Amino acid sequence: MDAKQNIQWFPGHMTKTRRQIQASLKLIDVVVEIIDARIPVSSSNPDLNELIQSKPKLVLLNKCDKADQKVTKLWVEYYAKNGVTALPVDCKSGRGLNRFVPAVRSLLTSKFDAQRAKGIKNPILRLMIVGIPNVGKSSFINRISKQTRAKVEDRPGVTRGNQWYTISKDLEMLDTPGVLWPKFDDQKVGENLAFTGAIKDNILDIELLAVNFLDLMKNHPTEEFKARFKLNDSDLSDNDSYELLKLIGKKRGMLISGGEINTERAANLIFDEYRDGKFGNITLEYPEEL
Ligand code: G4P
Repeated sequence: MDAKQNIQWFPGHMTKTRRQIQASLKLIDVVVEIIDARIPVSSSNPDLNELIQSKPKLVLLNKCDKADQKVTKLWVEYYAKNGVTALPVDCKSGRGLNRFVPAVRSLLTSKFDAQRAKGIKNPILRLMIVGIPNVGKSSFINRISKQTRAKVEDRPGVTRGNQWYTISKDLEMLDTPGVLWPKFDDQKVGENLAFTGAIKDNILDIELLAVNFLDLMKNHPTEEFKARFKLNDSDLSDNDSYELLKLIGKKRGMLISGGEINTERAANLIFDEYRDGKFGNITLEYPEEL
């Protein structure tokens, strides 16, 4: 098996997207980047900080219901150390979103103060959601607008062509999120996005993908994963990841004629079960690896 496989990204719209985001940036006071709590590095955009310059940024660690809670906490601390507020949220259930408006307000305190100093009695500040595909942007917008009973409003004159959700008396959100691109030239990033199902895995060598996934699982095995395939500690330590894939296939009776193990079926099974949450809550990237 080839040790590396190329994931093809088609960044044709990158320049256009960049321009659109730059145009929207002129209208807003804070950028909210949504990332996947299971893969905070791979699901973030490598060029965002340069793109937004000095604009304040809030990070939402979404899908925290699927991530390892302890590691999510480490990520929150990591971001805090780097001067960035990061909130763990679950936009499917809405968990954690009650902290969103207060967090934005506290990020924008000096901006509110400056507006008031200029004589604006009830300043309104605006935000925009950005994130790579599938990270949960629409889910967030749906949730926050239900939770705050936000209304979409047209503001001709001020922001021609844009619609805004009023999410509180002092905050408005641009209704169209900015779709960012991931770091598509990085092999590991592509693989992590494939593991979590953010990109389709049918263009990839599924067995090699499973072997690389099992490398991660060998390092941080969950009890659920071990129980699911009746694996003991020596099964994990004594087998390399390809042997482990074969062992999993064998344990599930995935044989082809001649007694060989159908590793392709085993690989597909692993991803179906992982994405279905059967291996428990797993984070695939750790701040200490940075
Ligand atoms: P996008 O706009 O950024 O492209 O993402 P979108 O909101 O469409 O979400 C992509 C998928 O991720 C959806 O699943 C959505 O339900 C799921 N999702 C979003 N936020 C969360 C979260 O916090 N936790 C979990 N567990 N899932 C989340 P889907 O499979 O496309 O649809 P469905 O399964 O909801 O029907």
